[in-house]
Amino acid sequence: MKVSVIIPLWALFSLAQQAAPSKSCTCELNPAEKAFPHDKLQTAEGNATDCNTHVTPQKALELESLLLGLEKRLTQLHSDVSVLEEEDDGELYGVLSLFVIENEMVEIRQLMEKLNSTTVEHQVLTDDTVQQLEELKTEMIKLEKFDTMEVVKGRQVNKQLKSALETCRIGVNATVAPTQPPYGTCQHGPLRNITGPGVNTQGEFSGNYAYGAWGRDPKPETRKENWYWMVPLTSSQYANYIRFYSSLSALIIGVSTPGNIQIASSNPTTNTIQGPNNVLYGSALYYNCYNRDAVCRFNLTSKSVTSVQLPRGTRYNSKSNFCHLEDCYAFTDLDLATDESGVWVVYTTTEALGNLVLTKVEETEPPTLGKTWRTSVYKRSVTNTFMACGILYATRYIDANVEEVFYSFDTTTGLENFKVSIFINKVSPNIFSLNYNPVDQMLYAYSNAKMVSYKALFGYSDRYFS
Ligand SMILES: *[C@@H]1O[C@H](CO)[C@@H](O)[C@H](O)[C@H]1NC(C)=O
Ligand SMILES: *[C@@H]1O[C@H](CO)[C@@H](O)[C@H](O)[C@H]1NC(C)=O
Ligand SMILES: *[C@@H]1O[C@H](CO)[C@@H](O)[C@H](O)[C@H]1NC(C)=O
Ligand SMILES: *[C@@H]1O[C@H](CO)[C@@H](O)[C@H](O)[C@H]1NC(C)=O
Ligand SMILES: *[C@@H]1O[C@H](CO)[C@@H](O)[C@H](O)[C@H]1NC(C)=O
Repeated sequence: MKVSVIIPLWALFSLAQQAAPSKSCTCELNPAEKAFPHDKLQTAEGNATDCNTHVTPQKALELESLLLGLEKRLTQLHSDVSVLEEEDDGELYGVLSLFVIENEMVEIRQLMEKLNSTTVEHQVLTDDTVQQLEELKTEMIKLEKFDTMEVVKGRQVNKQLKSALETCRIGVNATVAPTQPPYGTCQHGPLRNITGPGVNTQGEFSGNYAYGAWGRDPKPETRKENWYWMVPLTSSQYANYIRFYSSLSALIIGVSTPGNIQIASSNPTTNTIQGPNNVLYGSALYYNCYNRDAVCRFNLTSKSVTSVQLPRGTRYNSKSNFCHLEDCYAFTDLDLATDESGVWVVYTTTEALGNLVLTKVEETEPPTLGKTWRTSVYKRSVTNTFMACGILYATRYIDANVEEVFYSFDTTTGLENFKVSIFINKVSPNIFSLNYNPVDQMLYAYSNAKMVSYKALFGYSDRYFS
């Protein structure tokens, strides 16, 4: 059965190479060829997993993420090979799948090379782990040899040439670079670029509310995966309801379902939303409680509010806002954020001398505070922050058209970077709220009554993950 699968592949590739598909295409059949070694692939997959569990994040974060990546690629390759085998007479599909597999082989190889160089750097790894990696590598090389069609090899040469040229062009020698630092909790590397704006709309209120927040719940209820939410501040200080839209177009044309969901009365009380930097996570809105140094959570299911007190000395009521030279943004003392790991709050305290402090907010009932990190960036020199992959990013105002992500703080390593230099094209001068959604890797900004979205691109070297 498996031999008969390989034969049509040969045929398919010959077809693909000819100018026009021909029925009289002749295929060489080498009876010595074996079927694709699924068992080997499975062992390699298993070993990648085993290996992964032996490397603690403290030892080699990057290695771990590479292994995770490798594991994912191998699984994908495995399932694609299976698909290919089933398509033994669908010519077009067969050829397409072949290209998919080639690409995967190339990416796997690149991962292997990266792993190899990383292993060399991380001498701290146990011999055992290194040994396993070596075996894995040998196995992968064997798998590549199995590529009887020479397709992968040929393409690889092309791709390697291409990537060498690319490397040359951007003047970065990835292979000779010193130890690449690990980045946060995700495997896809650091934030590389922010493109857009994508969505740019005033929604139903036609610019009536300058301040507010919007976005998508990263952990939505079933059947509400495509919903969007919006909290307009009815004054420059507070808001008392949240609105939902069943789709992006509903948000743009302004059809809200089911209209205002009231959180507090229109006269501000302790449960009123203060300031624009709110986030929705797991069907609950997290925000700065009115007139308090506390994080409130409005549970949309139970329609009740619970809260957690921030540490003594937390600055609130517009005492330590986000600012730029021209302006400070009122009641932005607390910035709630979401990323792959949940909810965070960014603020400052007198003890931290006005520098950004970051605390994980735990989803308990009532919410509680998790781990806290201090940074050395002054809150009032920052216009906004967001979290992605366990990394805090801070922005500053460049001019009316451009905002810069200039700073990052990695909670997994404690490393600060003041030279992030990623630019955001603005549609209005001030971004009052900015948040990242790990599900679609989009940044949601509320900028002078406009709801604007951007795509966040991640990756090592010049290859983006998105
Ligand atoms: C792994 O790295 C070593 C030393 O850097 C190098 O000599 C070797 O060729 C590499 N192996 C592979 C498979 O890339
Ligand atoms: C994978 O692990 C098995 C059992 O632990 C071992 O026998 C085999 O040699 C390993 N293979 C590779 C490629 O590492
Ligand atoms: C990159 O490597 C090439 C040759 O390997 C070398 O000539 C060049 O100087 C290197 N560039 C940098 C920026 O290190
Ligand atoms: C970031 O994306 C923009 C396009 O949106 C592009 O012009 C710019 O060159 C990119 N920057 C980097 C460093 O890739
Ligand atoms: C919200 O309330 C519902 C019903 O009481 C409960 O099941 C759920 O866990 C709550 N959500 C949070 C985030 O506490």
